[in-house]
Amino acid sequence: MSDHGIPGRSAPDGSSVLAGLEAARRRTEWLTEIDEPELTAQHSPLMSPLVWDLAHIGQQEDLWLLRGGDAGAQGLLPAQIEKLYDAFEHPRASRVALPLLTPGEARAYLADVRGRVTDAIEHATDDDALFPYVMVEQHEQQHVETMFATHQLRSGAAVLDPREVLPAGRPVVSGARREGSVLVPGGPFVLGVDAVDEPWSLDNERPAHAAYLPAFRIGRVPVSNADWRRFIAAGGYDALHWWSAEGWAHRLEAGLERPLFWSADGSRRRFGVVEDIPPDEPVQHIGYHEAQAFAAWAGGRLPTEQEWEKACAWDPARGHRRRWPWGDSAWTPALANLGGGALRPAPVGAYPAGASAYGVEQLIGDVWEWTSSRFEPWPGFTRMLYSDCSAPFFGGDFRVLRGGSWAVGGASIRPSFRNWDLPVRRQIFSGLRLAWDVV
Ligand code: AVJ
Ligand code: FE
Repeated sequence: MSDHGIPGRSAPDGSSVLAGLEAARRRTEWLTEIDEPELTAQHSPLMSPLVWDLAHIGQQEDLWLLRGGDAGAQGLLPAQIEKLYDAFEHPRASRVALPLLTPGEARAYLADVRGRVTDAIEHATDDDALFPYVMVEQHEQQHVETMFATHQLRSGAAVLDPREVLPAGRPVVSGARREGSVLVPGGPFVLGVDAVDEPWSLDNERPAHAAYLPAFRIGRVPVSNADWRRFIAAGGYDALHWWSAEGWAHRLEAGLERPLFWSADGSRRRFGVVEDIPPDEPVQHIGYHEAQAFAAWAGGRLPTEQEWEKACAWDPARGHRRRWPWGDSAWTPALANLGGGALRPAPVGAYPAGASAYGVEQLIGDVWEWTSSRFEPWPGFTRMLYSDCSAPFFGGDFRVLRGGSWAVGGASIRPSFRNWDLPVRRQIFSGLRLAWDVV
C-alpha cells in the first residue's frame, strides 16, 4: 500500500482477468446477435455501424495483446483492412461507406483473437503483465456502452429486452433542492490514484496527489425526470438568463426543448418502446449546456470533478480514499446499477447502502454526471501503453463526466474514472447532480 493507500484489494490472477474479458464478450454478443441489416446500417451520423464497433473491439485486442501495441507488426487482418478500424483515421459518420468486414467475418476474427489471447494470458502473472488485458477488457466494455447508445438511437421495433429488475426507489428530497443536499466540509483529500492501489486505473486517473477544497454542498441524489419537468414547465428552455452565451446559441441552433428521446406529449422512446416518463428516475440524455442552465435555474451549479471525486471516494474519519463510495468491498447489484441488464437507470433513493462516507447516493452507475471541469491531465501525468487513450483530448472543448451509467460494465468503473465528451452530446447516458457553494 502506498502513502495514499487504499486497503482491500486482493491480488489478481490470469483466470479472473480472463473471466472479465469473457464477461465483456457476452455483453458484446448480446448487442450484436441481431439481424444483419441492423448491424451494417448507420443508425445515426453520431455513431458507427455496430459491425464497425464489433471488429474494432477485436482489432484493439489483437494490437495490444497479441502484438504488444506494435502497429507495424503483422496482425491477423491484412494491413489495409485493419486500417479501417483506426478511430483516429475515420470519423464515425464515414465508417458505413468503408469496405468493412461482414458480421460473420468480424465474429470469426474476434473468436480467433480471443483464442490466442486465452493461450497468451497464462504467461501473465503480475499486475504489470496483466494490465494490458484489463485495459482491453475496459476498452471492450466502453464500446459496449457506445453500442447501447447506437441501439437507443435506432428507429423501429425493439430488438433488446431487459434482463434484470432494479430495486425500488424510496422517498428522498429532490436532488434539485439545496435542503436535501449533503455538506462536504473544507479540507485536504487525495485526488486520483496510483497503480499500486488501483492497478487497472488508466493514465488520466493517475497519479494520486494531495488536494484541498473549501466546503461545498452536493446533491444526495441525481436530478430526476420530475425535476426536469419542473424546469421545462417554468420555461427554462426559453429563459436565456439561465444559459451561458455559448449554451444559448446552441439551444437556438439545435432547437433544444427537452431531453433527447422525450416527446412533447410527455412520453419518451427507449430502445424501441414508447412509454410514460417515470418521474423518479434520474434524467438522462441531456447535454452539458442544458445541465448548466438547469443548475442555474435551481439556484445551484454543476460540481467540479474534484468535488465529485472527494464526495465519492474520500473517507474523512479515516483520512484515506475508499475503493468504492460504500467502502472497500466489491460491487454487487444491491449497491449500484451497473451492467446494463435493466436498460435504464434506477429510481432515486434505490441504493441507500451504496452511499459514500458523506452520505451521497447513486454516484456510481445510473447516469454519467456532467461536471463543470474541462478534461485536463492531473499534475504528474504520464502516458500509458495505449499512449493516445487520453492525451490527444486534453486541452479540447471536452467536459468531464463522472460515475458511470447503468450501461457501464461492473468491472470498468471506479471513483477515479474520468469520461469526457463534447458539451453538445446527448446520445450518451448523461444526467447531472447539483452542487452549491457554502458561504
Ligand atoms: C472515454 C468514452 C471518451 O469512446 O471516445 C473507446 C473511449 N477510447 N475507444 C471514446 C474509447 C477508445 C472514449 N471515451
Ligand atoms: Fe475504441
